[in-house]
Amino acid sequence: MCGIIGYVGEKNCTPILLNGLKNLEYRGYDSAGIAVLEGNSINIKKSKGRVKNLEDLIEKDLCGGNIGIAHTRWATHGKPSKENAHPHEDNSHTFALVHNGIIENYKELRHFLCEQGYSFFSETDTEVIPNLIHYYYEKQEKTKDGFLQAVALACKKLEGSFAILVLCKYFPQTIILARRNSPLVVGKGKNEYYIASDIPAILEYTRDFYFLDDNEISFLESDIIHFFDFDLLEHEKELIHSSLSRNSSNKNGYEDFMLKEIEEQPQAIFDTLNQDIDLHLSSSFSQIYIVACGTAMHAGLVGKTCIETLCKIPTFVEVASEFRYRNPIIDSHTLCIFISQSGETADTIAALKLAKQKKAKTIAISNVMGSSISREADVCFYTYAGPEIAVASTKAYTSQVCLLCMLAILFAKQLKTASDKDLEVLKEDLLQLPKQIENILEHKDKIQILAKQLAFERDMFFLGRGIDYTTCLEASLKLKEISYIHSEAYPAGELKHGPIALIEQNTPVVGILTEEALLEKTISNLQEVIARGAKTFIVTNQELPKNIFDFVFTIPKTSRFTSPALSIVPLQLFSYYIAKQKNLDVDKPRNLAKSVTVE
Ligand code: AGP
Ligand code: GLU
Repeated sequence: MCGIIGYVGEKNCTPILLNGLKNLEYRGYDSAGIAVLEGNSINIKKSKGRVKNLEDLIEKDLCGGNIGIAHTRWATHGKPSKENAHPHEDNSHTFALVHNGIIENYKELRHFLCEQGYSFFSETDTEVIPNLIHYYYEKQEKTKDGFLQAVALACKKLEGSFAILVLCKYFPQTIILARRNSPLVVGKGKNEYYIASDIPAILEYTRDFYFLDDNEISFLESDIIHFFDFDLLEHEKELIHSSLSRNSSNKNGYEDFMLKEIEEQPQAIFDTLNQDIDLHLSSSFSQIYIVACGTAMHAGLVGKTCIETLCKIPTFVEVASEFRYRNPIIDSHTLCIFISQSGETADTIAALKLAKQKKAKTIAISNVMGSSISREADVCFYTYAGPEIAVASTKAYTSQVCLLCMLAILFAKQLKTASDKDLEVLKEDLLQLPKQIENILEHKDKIQILAKQLAFERDMFFLGRGIDYTTCLEASLKLKEISYIHSEAYPAGELKHGPIALIEQNTPVVGILTEEALLEKTISNLQEVIARGAKTFIVTNQELPKNIFDFVFTIPKTSRFTSPALSIVPLQLFSYYIAKQKNLDVDKPRNLAKSVTVE
């Protein structure tokens, strides 16, 4: 949530910061701002809306300077407005700060600071931080050390989550940064440092990164970097080289990242499958929990079916924001798998920490090397989907499905709970997926035509049984997210217990039919909605009776467990083309942000 960028070095920082903000805009985009330190004055510009608005503003009134910080916001406290946009300053205009996260005790801090004579000009939780820094700075020697002390003391008082960058007008070479539960990376250049919320934002400048840890503070000048804890005990930190390719963060001629990422799925799956995963699974695990949010949770549902069937271990899937607060019954005999594309989702990280406290064995599945989740878990396996920029997740989902199948195969082999032949067949099916997805993508024009017809519908239903139901959940989420059409996903057999009351003449119903054993049952449920006037649109890999459905899209045959990686593809395209038809911003849908680093 929100993008943070910073620069200190010898170059003019404004173009670097604006470029970084554009790269990070997918993380939040309701307002943007920049602070550049020149001599002893901090020059701040902010604007409501997209980074483009900020850029236009700056063009009129150029900022110079070699040190600066910038932010693109996803509002949590206070509406999207120029006043609430970051950077925020303290009352004396000594400090400027950008913040990602939520300060949970901001009301108490605000009250305290008001008593000390401070005033507030925005509705944000953030504005307490620069003022608190100022409050502590007043008690220090007026040196860089004093600046560092003041930031550390303020951090100790903050509750909640934060990644902050701070400038002080008296020290025109210095940026101080700190984090707790929100991501920050520092990229090292030659006599310069780049700071960002994620690697792709600064990948064009450097490949060498420091990953800030929780409760860590760093002091930066163009050729100096120090790391401390909040008690200012200094420690060393490893510089990590990233092999991510720069191209992966560009649109490469595509109109949108989402379409590019849908089309990258064959490669993403190929790269994910093309790794050796190894882990000795203790046979003493009595249960498995898969915990994640949104699309990653939907991948977890596919993983559950695959793991339970092949490994015969009871497997439960839970939304991280529920799991973390309900005191789940887990212990050292529980294996917990946490899935997160970004590896920075606050709820998933908190759920992971809880599982560790309860002594469960933890595995992370992430798409981002060095992300918080990957560092926190006992073991991390990576999907190799490359950076996913569009807010709506596509290639990460199909890669997660494949990785979960790989894990299920690995565990089943060790536990000897499935026949070698069955495991070989599944492996072979996984390897076929890239080609099969290419084949589906070749027919995307059919989906585009259908999407045009249905673009202005008010409601839609997605029906399926078994593993198809899990795909329905994901397809329905995609449609809601980017096309703003209300949609519901239901197990096909459950509809008659209530929701069928919503079916009217011409209500669009999408059916997914790949579960061979349940085919007749699902067809009967679809007949029930047809009898009540519904129009039906089917994704299937089965032979279906002719002339029942309004539209049928056939996908290649594959196993039960790999079928979601195929059946979701036409439905990703469906949501995409509907959103395009409605002229919506597919990559940056309203109210959303890519990386949800607040709970
Ligand atoms: C997917 O389209 C969504 N934008 C969202 O549900 C996402 O999958 C969820 O927030 C989890 O993100 P993560 O995988 O980065 O943890
Ligand atoms: N809580 C802060 C605000 O609402 C920061 C939000 C963000 O991470 O963008 O301004």
